[in-house]
Amino acid sequence: MTFEYAPAPESRSIVSISPKYGHFIGGNFVAGTKHFPTINPATEEVLSKIACGTKSDVDAAVKAARKAYVGTWSKMSGKERGKYLFRIARIMQERAREFAVLETLDNGKPIRESRDVDVPLAAAHFFYHAGWADKLEYAGLGTSTKPHGVAGQIIPWNFPLLMLAWKVAPALAMGNTVVLKPAETTSLTALLFAQVCQEAELPAGVVNIVTGDGSTGALIVNHPGIDKIAFTGSTEVGKIIARAVASTKKSVTLELGGKAANIVFDDAPIDEAVEGIINGIFFNQGHVCCAGSRLVLQENIADEFLEKLKIRMNKIRVGDPMDKNTDLGAINSQEQLLKIRELTIAGDKEGAQRWSPECALPSKGFWFPPTIFTGVTQGHRIAREEIFGPVLSVLTFRTPQEAIDKANNTPFGLSAGIWSEKGSRILWASQQLRAGVIWANTFNKFDPTSPFGGYKESGWGREGGRHGLSAYLKGVSHE
Ligand code: NAI
Ligand code: MG
Repeated sequence: MTFEYAPAPESRSIVSISPKYGHFIGGNFVAGTKHFPTINPATEEVLSKIACGTKSDVDAAVKAARKAYVGTWSKMSGKERGKYLFRIARIMQERAREFAVLETLDNGKPIRESRDVDVPLAAAHFFYHAGWADKLEYAGLGTSTKPHGVAGQIIPWNFPLLMLAWKVAPALAMGNTVVLKPAETTSLTALLFAQVCQEAELPAGVVNIVTGDGSTGALIVNHPGIDKIAFTGSTEVGKIIARAVASTKKSVTLELGGKAANIVFDDAPIDEAVEGIINGIFFNQGHVCCAGSRLVLQENIADEFLEKLKIRMNKIRVGDPMDKNTDLGAINSQEQLLKIRELTIAGDKEGAQRWSPECALPSKGFWFPPTIFTGVTQGHRIAREEIFGPVLSVLTFRTPQEAIDKANNTPFGLSAGIWSEKGSRILWASQQLRAGVIWANTFNKFDPTSPFGGYKESGWGREGGRHGLSAYLKGVSHE
């Protein structure tokens, strides 16, 4: 006998959303000129109106950041800077539920994930970098390190608050000031973070937040008053940014796309591996740059494995992201939904076999069922391109070398997974894989102490850990 889950909705009463927002510049909220709606992707309800940053907004933010850098932040000791970061981290923890509810409303991710992953990890990034602020001389990066100055930071919509933390915490800890632009569909938690900066009494202009779309992002990238660009997003925009800064003095780090292989060898503990594959591709609706979007499966266990995977997929609960029992929430935008549909239709047309469990999708909002494609070959678009949705492409292999060759046959190289009982095989495989992060018998584990970043078209530089510090220091090369 199975029991149905009763609805367990989280209350949204803890958040108060203004009907309209401006930018956060020089420590104050300033009115915007043009606005666009931000919606809840699970219901299509308009949550608020967000300002689209113009040239004069970006100019004002860069000016405020420069003033704060020259006048305050660059003169402050690391110990003092660290105190502000600790304060921010603690306020984020105190307001964790508010952040989680707001993130889920604006992004569509399950409350279970925003509550248990995004927000605690964002606070952890501030705590971790607060600890480095006064210990830089022991980081092995030289004894007279210097910050860049003003950092322009552009982030995506898949982990809005967490990507903000990945960007802002190391920049501030190393002594830079920032102008940050959140993604156009998910600005609300960044604007709540601006309130946290005020509450922490962070000196005016150290953090500036200008909202807007790609045009605002381009204004930041091309602004002559910016010393360093940090970007997370599509490889396509990453290439535009690399070209734009190529002939300037700007330093740049790029965290771009991925098409990770999650390799399951025939000696792997099958039930654990099934769980890891599910987490690898269905966490955050598959809107994850390091998602395990290609299952590379040893042929002699493929039938048994896929049968178990389908049984497990039948149990994924899709629906209201505010429900505490929901596993898979809404697709972040109509645009992203159309992209997922287009690529999966290409999968059908190119001859792969699609399977999804039966699941009723809500009539409003943007939804895509958990999906796997079997019979995928390396030439298929669904094996080569980033789908950025809850869609797994399954490829098979016979020998370990074939698994490695298939895993590395991609223009990306952000992450990979290895499932095997044998330590020697894990060590061998991880040495062969061309990917920045390799998980063994687990997946999607993140920690501020661990550097994250890619090979090839997955980007330049590392974020997190000691390696990530160097991205915010002048003349310190990435290892
Ligand atoms: P995107 O790369 O266009 O957007 C990311 C950020 O860059 C946003 O803040 C956006 O406003 C900004 N931006 C856009 N054009 C810009 C420009 N010319 N100069 C400066 N900033 C600019 O990503 P998008 O369109 O939201 O998603 C498209 C695809 O990109 C997704 O389907 C997915 O495959 C991939 N993607 C990968 C991410 C990752 O974490 N690796 C995150 C987001 C998207
Ligand atoms: Mg775009």
